[in-house]
Amino acid sequence: MISIYGSSGRLAALLIFTFVSVFVLCEYVIYYPVILRCSWPHIETVNSHLPLRALFLSDTHLLGAIKGHWLDKLRREWQMERAFQTSLWLLNPEIVFILGDVFDEGKWSSSQDWEDDVRRFKRIFRHPSDTELVVLIGNHDIGFHHEMTKQKLERFEQVFNVTSARILTIKGVNFLLVNSVALHGDHCPICQRVEKELHKLSLALNCSIQGEHHYDQCKNTESFAPAAPVLLQHYPLYRVSDAMCTGVDAAPLDERYQLFRERYDVISKNASKKLLWWFKPRLILSGHTHHGCEILHENLYPEISIPSFSWRNRNNPSFILGLPTAMETAELLFNHVVRYFSIPEDIVSDRGPQFISRVWKAFHSLLGVAISLSSGYHPQSNG
Ligand SMILES: *[C@@H]1O[C@H](CO)[C@@H](O)[C@H](O)[C@H]1NC(C)=O
Ligand SMILES: *[C@@H]1O[C@H](CO)[C@@H](O)[C@H](O)[C@H]1NC(C)=O
Ligand SMILES: *[C@@H]1O[C@H](CO)[C@@H](O)[C@H](O)[C@H]1NC(C)=O
Ligand SMILES: [Zn+2]
Ligand SMILES: [Zn+2]
Repeated sequence: MISIYGSSGRLAALLIFTFVSVFVLCEYVIYYPVILRCSWPHIETVNSHLPLRALFLSDTHLLGAIKGHWLDKLRREWQMERAFQTSLWLLNPEIVFILGDVFDEGKWSSSQDWEDDVRRFKRIFRHPSDTELVVLIGNHDIGFHHEMTKQKLERFEQVFNVTSARILTIKGVNFLLVNSVALHGDHCPICQRVEKELHKLSLALNCSIQGEHHYDQCKNTESFAPAAPVLLQHYPLYRVSDAMCTGVDAAPLDERYQLFRERYDVISKNASKKLLWWFKPRLILSGHTHHGCEILHENLYPEISIPSFSWRNRNNPSFILGLPTAMETAELLFNHVVRYFSIPEDIVSDRGPQFISRVWKAFHSLLGVAISLSSGYHPQSNG
């Protein structure tokens, strides 16, 4: 009797051990080999300009108190935290940009729910002090244009220390950060302020590039690195639909031909024209559509829309790694200096059937080992 109890106890222990191992493997360890497949682009540093290691991601949509189910929240945030923390550990970027829609319900959350969202954000996206984190404003953070209020804008700006239009220069690379929700062009007070600010930045950048500080209009302007900026915003520039998009993770066929509405899906034609005209950006990075897209505007200005980084929005969240220096042209930057990485669907996805079957296979093979190990203690059952 005792020996039977002993061996079934051992079996139970082995089962628990197996289960815990599979769990740890699937929920923790798996992110390492997956993210190891991703590496920085290889570029030759022809001049003395050292590249900046920049990681870009978008649409994290931390679930809110009203529409988010607690289990869904727990699951998605754990996945996001592991993916992000593993990426930081393995890739060690100097700067991380999150291109808006950080929260799902920032547009209507009470101040208490907002505090809770912010606290979770800070935990998930914690980072060492030598990595800078820059967050942009999306429509889910402060509401679509008609829902945007000064108060919602200000609480976001305070927590993330951002403003609606600014140029951040690091290692000679100018990043132009724009609150695209305020580019409605309807002369609302916030829009007017942002436009005025953008005009000022355009002038200051022109003065820096042309080195014409002796001109009257260049007096008293801020000075930046003398290079075209990389434009970062939440909404993409105007495009008719995703039909012309190339690149991995473009929208599926049935969504590609849906026409975009100006100011809701993409910024307006006028606002796009103005941004291109004022800044002649080397590269545009955006989010909001939750799908990937590579597209060239006016045959000159490449844009990449980055898919969502939340498993709630897609099975293969993605991010972009870039090594910009002060010098590349748009084409070089686009073709060689940024690299797209999406986490393979069949590995860390809990909707894909492959994942489940993989877990079960792993579980069964471990179980097989456990059972044959434990059955070794029953001479009679081995015959
Ligand atoms: C906020 O951002 C500005 C640059 O826009 C920077 O100079 C300042 O140190 C930042 N403040 C904090 C508290 O990080
Ligand atoms: C800056 O220069 C570009 C041309 O390179 C021009 O289109 C734009 O209007 C200028 N910006 C301002 C504010 O004058
Ligand atoms: C776009 O801008 C042009 C002039 O720059 C203006 O005439 C037109 O009304 C604008 N269109 C919209 C929809 O705002
Ligand atoms: Zn979004
Ligand atoms: Zn959005």
